[in-house]
Amino acid sequence: MRSKAFPDPVRRGFDAGRIGGRRRHCDWTVTCGHLAKHFRWDENLFMADAAPWSRLRSEIYSLIGRNPKSNRLVPAFAELDSPHHVLDIGCGPGAAVRAAAPLVAAAVGLDRSEAMVEIARRRSHEFANVEFVVGGAEQLPFPDASFDRVWTIHAFHHWEDQAAGIAETLRVLRPNGRFLVIESETRGSHGLNRASAVRLAERLRAVGFVEASVTKPHRQLVVTGVAAE
Ligand SMILES: C[S@@+](CC[C@H](N)C(=O)[O-])C[C@H]1O[C@@H](n2cnc3c(N)ncnc32)[C@H](O)[C@@H]1O
Repeated sequence: MRSKAFPDPVRRGFDAGRIGGRRRHCDWTVTCGHLAKHFRWDENLFMADAAPWSRLRSEIYSLIGRNPKSNRLVPAFAELDSPHHVLDIGCGPGAAVRAAAPLVAAAVGLDRSEAMVEIARRRSHEFANVEFVVGGAEQLPFPDASFDRVWTIHAFHHWEDQAAGIAETLRVLRPNGRFLVIESETRGSHGLNRASAVRLAERLRAVGFVEASVTKPHRQLVVTGVAAE
């Protein structure tokens, strides 16, 4: 059986039925490449317990062609600067927030999963300028013009209402601030391909970002929108 080729922890992690010790309902199925033939996962992977996600992220990302280091690469993608206030939407266990923290004035991670936020807080005690908040991209709990950088890593494709999330992102960005959507390149729905990345850049321009571009550093597709001065 082909599934035997995958390491056991990965198989266990994708068995959504085992997360939290009881069977859970699967809302959707991953459709990235051959992985979908072997595993089913669902939003409960993020909502119920952050530990499986945290443990399996790099193994899963290696298997499906995502860059397992994407969290740590954020400082390079986002061109951070010491006065910056930054926001990670869909921060998960908070690794990108911690990578950014030493380089900026304040780093905030937001995730709709309380379990993710809890584990992110536990792992970030030593950072005085870091905060984690439970909330959704579609209704950001921050005042207008709060952040110089907003990014979302392998999470944009999960947003229920991307139009609302993009509008909210533009609202909380400061003049000349940047929004980065970081996704793997995929033909499936769990990422972007060249064409959908270009369409996303067009959407960003259409709602008020003055510039939007697509780049592909480190095996990631990055769509960057720049807010008006
Ligand atoms: C695939 S995980 C990625 C987590 C982290 N960015 C990483 O790369 O390890 C997606 C995360 O996005 C969060 N998420 C999905 N939709 C969201 C939304 N609309 N608002 C806030 N968080 C969201 C999920 O709870 C989950 O923690």
